[in-house]
Amino acid sequence: QRTVRVGLLGLGTVGSGVLKALSQNGESIAERTGCRIEIPYILVRNPEKKRNVEVAREQIITDPDLILTSPDIPIIIEVMGGLEPARTIILKSLRSGKHVITANKELLAKHGAELLQTAEEAGVQLLFEASVAGGIPVIRFLQGYLTANRVQEVSGILNGTTNYILTKMEQTGQSFGEVLVQAQELGYAEADPTSDVEGFDAAYKLAILTNLAFDVKVPVHDIPREGITRLQPLDLQWAREFGYVIKLLGRSRRTEQGIELSVGPRLLPLTHPLARVNDVFNAVMISSDVVGDLTFIGKGAGEYPTASAVLEDLMALLQNSGNVLRSSSWNTPLQQFEGRTEVQ
Ligand code: NDP
Ligand code: HSE
Repeated sequence: QRTVRVGLLGLGTVGSGVLKALSQNGESIAERTGCRIEIPYILVRNPEKKRNVEVAREQIITDPDLILTSPDIPIIIEVMGGLEPARTIILKSLRSGKHVITANKELLAKHGAELLQTAEEAGVQLLFEASVAGGIPVIRFLQGYLTANRVQEVSGILNGTTNYILTKMEQTGQSFGEVLVQAQELGYAEADPTSDVEGFDAAYKLAILTNLAFDVKVPVHDIPREGITRLQPLDLQWAREFGYVIKLLGRSRRTEQGIELSVGPRLLPLTHPLARVNDVFNAVMISSDVVGDLTFIGKGAGEYPTASAVLEDLMALLQNSGNVLRSSSWNTPLQQFEGRTEVQ
């Protein structure tokens, strides 16, 4: 067995999940891949913070250069979030020949084209399964499988925090604020939960999915977007009385005018396949011309589901299957961009 040294950027919800899952399944990963994973350095902001996972003091660093300048660290996992310094560190890593795994949907939605081009030029992989829908392997599916089809529509529940909030508000009558605190305690929410509850996070994920499904670059700021902050428990309870649930849905579809995108709360009949997708679960529905409709459901946030996606990317690199993934340009402009925000 050979040892593969991996630099970890971030030790919050996802970073801790990665370490825990590695300690749980490191042996079987070593058996399957012939590689023993070692994490020599973990980048954090505050080295004094108490951690909920066991780490050695010497692993914790605050200077990314220790990772960037180590020639014997061929892979980095970025789970720190935010645009900077994450973008700069990832670009430097790629340029210095390191493969990068990231869960950072905001960065990908806004700078994916630049990052993917840099990876391609450097001959390394940029993998981002954890950036959309937590543990659901939808990125790999769109990149590596659905290539003989023409995708017509991608839609789904793309944010675990808001689905958890809507579920609990309806079931318990608790207020938006009370349930948001629970979602934060469970590690589902973003560092700034505005991103979740105002629909930005779902819009980032929709942009990534749309890019892969339709091979277009999506101007993420232009996606018509509405959050869930104005909803009350009574809205949800009344909707059910009339045979509906309210879900925060992201949707992009091919129309004669171009790709139409939207994110917002939608009324779904109780018979709809996504109506019973509750709590932190996410769902992604893909409609394509040959295969028809496919629906994926799984946990969309939290330490273990997200760690699973990160580690599956790591396995892909270790098994050298990363290079079979189809790259998309992320640069083709949308022919036309037309949004709709009304409840459908
Ligand atoms: P957290 O806020 O829990 O953790 C962030 C970690 O990164 C912390 O350890 C923090 O250090 C470190 N960090 C942040 N900024 C810096 C910086 N400038 N320099 C050094 N270290 C820094 O975030 P999450 O783990 O929840 O999320 C991480 C990423 O994963 C985000 O991009 C998020 O969108 C994405 N993601 C999150 C999911 C989830 O369920 N939480 C699911 C899917 C994706 P310190 O601990 O010292 O503060
Ligand atoms: N805050 C995000 C969510 C994390 O709740 O879906 C997973 O991307």
